[in-house]
Amino acid sequence: MSVTMGEMIYEGKAKKVYATDNPNLCIVSYKDDATAFNGLKKGTIIGKGEINNRVSNRLMKMLEANGVPTHVVEELNGRDTVVRRVKIIPLEVIIRNVAAGSMSKRLGVEEGTELLRPVLEFSYKDDSLGDPMVCESHILALGWATEAELETISKTALRVNELLSKHMAETGIRLIDFKLEFGKTSDGQIILADEISPDTCRFWDIKTGEKLDKDRFRRDLGGVEAAYENIRERLIGANA
Ligand code: TMP
Ligand code: ASP
Repeated sequence: MSVTMGEMIYEGKAKKVYATDNPNLCIVSYKDDATAFNGLKKGTIIGKGEINNRVSNRLMKMLEANGVPTHVVEELNGRDTVVRRVKIIPLEVIIRNVAAGSMSKRLGVEEGTELLRPVLEFSYKDDSLGDPMVCESHILALGWATEAELETISKTALRVNELLSKHMAETGIRLIDFKLEFGKTSDGQIILADEISPDTCRFWDIKTGEKLDKDRFRRDLGGVEAAYENIRERLIGANA
């Protein structure tokens, strides 16, 4: 496919988005920049952009093959991918299989506690407000999604959890929790957007419990680059 990169239309904390000569397509370009706590902590994770681009595309292709529509069209190179142009629904859709992070803190549940069933949470995507948790009635009352769209989003997120948990387990990783974002195409279809990577998931080694995700950066645990590389090697292979 040949698309020509146009002007930058958006710069987020971890990615830039460019227009293309096709109004239905964009190019996302993954950066090495890392932030935590809604941008308060800033740093660089060398090689992260390439790893997240490749890992996310690999996982999204796996989901597509299992019937989950995603925005990924074509990986262009290490950092850049052609995606379908969508309007992002301003929600962080979080699924949890094991208590960790903000859930452990808020509810006083020890990290690592297995949950009886997956938890589905929504946060409103707004750094200046600290991405506050919202419930379905906020989302409907404020018009961020319709009832039908929210049902699609919830069902898809739970399906992604099943597929991703199984896929990661095959590489020796326990999927603790993760965050998804959805977008709406010009013809009104809700599809999976953003990324699925060690930035947006908690991955623990099944055998050792070692954290192989962005918590190493958030919590200053060291070995950040090695953890991202470890995930890349398990999913894609060492020399990919
Ligand atoms: P939390 O426990 O901090 O709420 O995070 C839950 C999951 O969501 C975890 O896998 C990390 C991911 N996440 C993001 O992708 N972006 C964010 O801004 C936050 C806070 C979490
Ligand atoms: N999205 C968060 C931030 O902005 C990062 C995180 O904790 O994953 O800084």
